[in-house]
Amino acid sequence: MANQDQKETVPVPRPELFDFHGVSMVHSMTDNWDNVQNFQAKPDDILIATYPKAGTTWVSHMLDLLYFGKSSPKRGVSLPIYERVPFLEICIPFLPTGVESADKMTTSPRLIKTHLPVQFVPKSFWEQKCRIVYVARNAKDNVVSYFHFDRMNSAQPEPGDWTSYLQKFQEGKLLFGSWYDHVKGWWEKKQAYPKLLYVHYEDLAEDMDRELDRVCSFLGVCPTEEERCQVKEGVEFDAMKNNRMTNYSTIDVLDFKISPFMRKGKVGDWKNHFTVYQNEQFDKEYKKKMMSTTLWFRN
Ligand code: A3P
Repeated sequence: MANQDQKETVPVPRPELFDFHGVSMVHSMTDNWDNVQNFQAKPDDILIATYPKAGTTWVSHMLDLLYFGKSSPKRGVSLPIYERVPFLEICIPFLPTGVESADKMTTSPRLIKTHLPVQFVPKSFWEQKCRIVYVARNAKDNVVSYFHFDRMNSAQPEPGDWTSYLQKFQEGKLLFGSWYDHVKGWWEKKQAYPKLLYVHYEDLAEDMDRELDRVCSFLGVCPTEEERCQVKEGVEFDAMKNNRMTNYSTIDVLDFKISPFMRKGKVGDWKNHFTVYQNEQFDKEYKKKMMSTTLWFRN
């Protein structure tokens, strides 16, 4: 018999992927589709767009601290990141949808997160000429991070083992579809839409000062030296790992016994996961799929 202190855990069935206009999706990301598509963006909204696990939380926290760190110094340690930066397409029973959360925001600018491939972005963001920060991460680290996330998140489809997961990644059969289509689609958009800043995870890791300058100049914000320091300290990996408002420890579908959300935060962790054979096969496929683009990543 279960001890009263022991919580009984009822296993929750994992969602299944389905094809949604050519992209693998789950219902919690498409059930509010009409409202997502009709979302009314405001001209000063800032959209943070990424393929999952590319550094969304990192850049979301950075932008939130940049805009609101001075006026509300406690905000970053008292409000979870998903409240400060709502997730546009999410729709989970009994919780406000991402659209409702964004509509309710009173801060300006509104920072809004999306994992949508570029062709699915609500048209009002383009019409209102909103600034968009797209964050991309090299494919190998991205798939490793996604694998561990899918293992620990029961709201994500069942990941299976690493070998089959890697195969699914190459086939675009993970939530939000193909990494290749995602990063290339947004890269192409950037050529036609100047208010899009394309940021690489590896560049953030290499030189935060330089990237902060790029972001600030794109957004037209001029933090003081003291504000810059606060942002830089706030977005350090250890600071974010230890901050309950950025480490997602407040979300109960995540099992931190399997993996932390802030897992390693490194460039090159893929080397601890890929076998030599997997790496060779991956490189061949990668070359074919990235042949047509000028987009380039460091591993
Ligand atoms: P790892 O799993 O490789 O550690 P997202 O926010 O898009 O879900 O991305 C999560 C990934 O970004 C995780 O990668 C996480 O550790 C990493 N990350 C988050 N904050 C970071 C930071 N401040 N510095 C470096 N990496 C960070």
